Amino acid sequence: MSQGFELKKVTPHCGAEVLGIDLSQPLDAGAAAALQSALAQNCVLFFRNQKMSPEQHKALGRRFGELHLHPAWPRLVEGHPEIMEIYADDKSKRVAGEDWHSDVSCDPEPPLGTILHMHEVPPVGGDTLFASMYAAWDALSAPMQRFLEGMSAIHDGEYVYRGRYEGALEEGKVYPKSEHPVVRTHPVSGRKALFVNRTFTTRIVQLARHESDAVLGMLLEHLERPEFQCRFQWQPGSVAFWDNRCAQHHAMWDYYPNRRRGLRVTIRGDRPYFRP
Ligand code: SIN
Repeated sequence: MSQGFELKKVTPHCGAEVLGIDLSQPLDAGAAAALQSALAQNCVLFFRNQKMSPEQHKALGRRFGELHLHPAWPRLVEGHPEIMEIYADDKSKRVAGEDWHSDVSCDPEPPLGTILHMHEVPPVGGDTLFASMYAAWDALSAPMQRFLEGMSAIHDGEYVYRGRYEGALEEGKVYPKSEHPVVRTHPVSGRKALFVNRTFTTRIVQLARHESDAVLGMLLEHLERPEFQCRFQWQPGSVAFWDNRCAQHHAMWDYYPNRRRGLRVTIRGDRPYFRP
């Protein structure tokens, strides 16, 4: 029998809380398939009061695909290069994910999803915002959708990562840069999702520079509209599992000088495509 769970939607477009599942236990095939489908529908899943060792965290991620190695992040858990430590305190100069983005969208095959397990939270603040890129796409007018279908955009890691993180080993390093469709078809749900973001996307390939700046600017403002979003207040033991193919997120760094610490595994994805 499959491990059962309940889903409670957070907002109409984005996010669902998953009740009645212990992520430290191996997921059976039925539960993994049901979670994969819930993820593709809701863009991000939230879990409370979870306890996972690094091995259990990696085993959970591997239920959905191979684990991804980040091209730049310098804080990795010793002995676990697949686990990123998300950390900020009074000495931090920046934090991960401070602006809207889809993780490492500069990769030729950007990550499918990310599982962040929060261990330490500030007294208040440090929420993460998520936004549905299905909702952002659906809300564009039909003429604008027709204009954008078939266009592609550059996602540039060099521009984002070079010099960004203290402690990153950069000598001889080449950061990924890729061209992806502006609107992608989600491989599980079959829905269309807008796939440009403020952090990585530098231009739309088919347009002149001034046209690209204007259209990209409009899209970035559009996709950040609050009606596409939900906001997650972390507690120690909370887990968020987001789908980078249809969601963007933004970590709030409003808790300085307090500390916040979590561990993250990222699951490898496939090459984005558009199917009309
Ligand atoms: C990230 O992985 O982009 C950071 C998310 C967060 O710290 O909430």
